[in-house]
Amino acid sequence: MKELSKKTSGFTDSLIRRMTRVANKYDAINLSQGYPDFDPPKEITDKLAEVAATGPHQYATTWGSESIRKALAKKQEHFSGMKVDPDKEIVVTCGGTEAMIAAVLTVCNPGDKVVIFSPFYENYGADAILSGAEQIYVPLIPPDFHFDAAALEHAFSQDGVKAMILCNPSNPCGKVFTQEELQIIADLAIKYDLYVITDEVYEHILYKPHEHVYISTLPGMKERTIICSSLSKTYSITGWRIGYVIASERITERVKKVHDFLTIGAAAPLMEAVTVGLGFGDDYYDNLQKHYTHMKDVFCNGLRDIGLQFVEPQGAYYVMVDISEFGYENDYDFCVNLAEKVGVAAVPGSSFFKEDVNNYIRFHFAKKDETLLKALDRLADIRKKLA
Ligand SMILES: Cc1ncc(COP(=O)(O)O)c(C=O)c1O
Repeated sequence: MKELSKKTSGFTDSLIRRMTRVANKYDAINLSQGYPDFDPPKEITDKLAEVAATGPHQYATTWGSESIRKALAKKQEHFSGMKVDPDKEIVVTCGGTEAMIAAVLTVCNPGDKVVIFSPFYENYGADAILSGAEQIYVPLIPPDFHFDAAALEHAFSQDGVKAMILCNPSNPCGKVFTQEELQIIADLAIKYDLYVITDEVYEHILYKPHEHVYISTLPGMKERTIICSSLSKTYSITGWRIGYVIASERITERVKKVHDFLTIGAAAPLMEAVTVGLGFGDDYYDNLQKHYTHMKDVFCNGLRDIGLQFVEPQGAYYVMVDISEFGYENDYDFCVNLAEKVGVAAVPGSSFFKEDVNNYIRFHFAKKDETLLKALDRLADIRKKLA
């Protein structure tokens, strides 16, 4: 039979989701794929029950129901100070995942280049390939994951560079970019006339004293920033698949069309139900931060007690653990052994790095205390079990 598409021939299956299958095979506690094992806010699920009876059940406006767009615009203004036109500057998508591919397809022609920090969330490589764009990686240097401004400028200055993809707070490394770092990126984006496509799905998951700064709010950036975000993490509804793009009207007009042909629209009843959550007051977000800080502390303190080396996250809900002491050449083999012999599943760090880095694994900790404590209990004699 004829060859299948060249574009997709290089795709591996998602390593993150593969590790979930490995976890299931060995009945390991799954700290690989990042989703909470606790419930969404009751107000949202109660509203979903109500909507089941009342509807809507048919297609909504393709770029999102009016109520969710209005609620998103209000929330964005509250947290960033940006005024957003709910009719002209928002597209509601099927998750942040669709927001990102729609944004990259909107910006890039085949042959254009996109700059991505490494380590990076694995979808960005696929987004670039599907758009025909070439990827240029700039390292975030462990252990504090800083970047070299000269290396970034070198990448930005190459011919054909159209955009940068910026994940802030970062999955996998938990970095929260400071205002000064964002200013460097913004100055260079303006200097080289680039778009910045942000992935801000963890905008509300931050550990004090770190704060989220929207790069779109820096002078000269509103017109060139395409914000991609999601309700998956903020309201613990990763299965609902609701995300969004916020950008200037010129860009949004195009994103609306790409989105319409990709998926038509997000699920109408779910948009209706989650709109209740978008109206929550500051106390919801304060409690969310407290809850995540608690989970981070339980897990990171446990890792510390076991004597494992790790980088304390500043945001998002992942921690990168340095596995150098175990002497494995291949972090995938380490993760399979960890699932089989220790009973805890993690993601090999190499799946996030463009550089040849094999000494990190990533755990996520959006879990109930009992799940985290059970995982820590199993990890306590990791050295013996992996000897
Ligand atoms: C950085 C990042 N972006 C996007 C996503 C996917 O978001 P969504 O569920 O909204 O598609 C994830 C999920 O883990 C993520 O970590």
